[in-house]
Amino acid sequence: MKTMTKKKSAPALPLNTIVDGDCIEVMNGLPEASVDLIFADPPYNLQLRGDLHRPDNSQVDAVDDAWDQFASFAAYDRFTHDWLAAARRILKPNGAIWVIGSYHNIFRVGAALQDAGFWVLNDVVWRKSNPMPNFRGKRLTNAHETMIWASKEEGAKYTFNYEALKSLNDGIQMRSDWVLPICTGHERLKDDNGDKAHPTQKPESLLHRVLVGSTNPGDVVLDPFFGTGTTGAVAKMLGRDYIGIEREAAYRKVAEKRLANIRKYDRDALQVSTSKRAEPRVPFGTLIERGMLRPGEELYSMNKRHKAKVRADGTLIGGDVKGSIHQVGAHLEGAPSCNGWTYWCFRREGKTVPIDVLRQQIRSEMEERPN
Ligand SMILES: C[S@@+](CC[C@H](N)C(=O)[O-])C[C@H]1O[C@@H](n2cnc3c(N)ncnc32)[C@H](O)[C@@H]1O
Repeated sequence: MKTMTKKKSAPALPLNTIVDGDCIEVMNGLPEASVDLIFADPPYNLQLRGDLHRPDNSQVDAVDDAWDQFASFAAYDRFTHDWLAAARRILKPNGAIWVIGSYHNIFRVGAALQDAGFWVLNDVVWRKSNPMPNFRGKRLTNAHETMIWASKEEGAKYTFNYEALKSLNDGIQMRSDWVLPICTGHERLKDDNGDKAHPTQKPESLLHRVLVGSTNPGDVVLDPFFGTGTTGAVAKMLGRDYIGIEREAAYRKVAEKRLANIRKYDRDALQVSTSKRAEPRVPFGTLIERGMLRPGEELYSMNKRHKAKVRADGTLIGGDVKGSIHQVGAHLEGAPSCNGWTYWCFRREGKTVPIDVLRQQIRSEMEERPN
């Protein structure tokens, strides 16, 4: 007799929680190909030698914590290799990773990323508008950190909200150098003694740009070095699901309190600009088929100089020319091309309305339709 072996069901994703533990072990326990984006702010391996003082002799609150100590570069490389392998396994095929670091570690991490099979898409320089000065005056002021953005593999269809980032940047294409302040003021979390709760808390503005640009609402964003939970806080505001991993109880406590006070933006506010090319194509003829415009109805040019008649097959006739809304518009204007959608208007109840309004109406109906 055949024995039935019960298939092991995949472990559920611990969505919107902070998991206690070592990130490599935790990630290895998560289902394969289940995460859309990983944002990682790993230990810098600063290798600080001795205390650092300001000119007034006060001590600088530097990153000298145990979590940032590694015995050697080789030990750091082993650690980087292991957490990157664990991270890559849980990424969906079209998933991507961001890793932030400083000159102490980012070059080693960059090589490890490529060795692990990730495909580097960009490196972004986060230029700090308010960096900490170089107190000893022996080197340049260290005023930036580098982020590497990579897809799981070459050719993957990673998410990139080009138009949304362009809108964030006042209509100008977003570049790879981002000038943003370090985390200070009310955003900087404090412990019970009023000291910084974490030495390397990242600014929310940085994560806002990363998540708007490379995720969509409902995506799963995992941060294996959660710290105070900046990634989770911004993900929650933006309607993404987060998974945080952090092994220090004190940081988890701070992050949990922070996240409990975060509210998600409302649905309309979460809609971002999308590429025009990504919007569904609506033929002009659909407006006639749907009875939104009638054959024989007159359309008027936006500049009020020309008019044309709608025909049953979705073409126009204007003056001595017949053709598409674009061809007739271009002919009447004597122009090489014309966007008929923004050129032609129709009249309703004494008002002149661009035909593009009808196209938008159809598109929004398409979006509302469940898949
Ligand atoms: C550079 S900080 C991240 C700060 C965070 N981005 C923020 O905005 O607060 C790195 C964090 O990773 C944690 N960490 C280091 N090694 C870890 C490991 N193997 N597993 C889980 N967490 C780890 C440290 O405790 C530290 O809080």
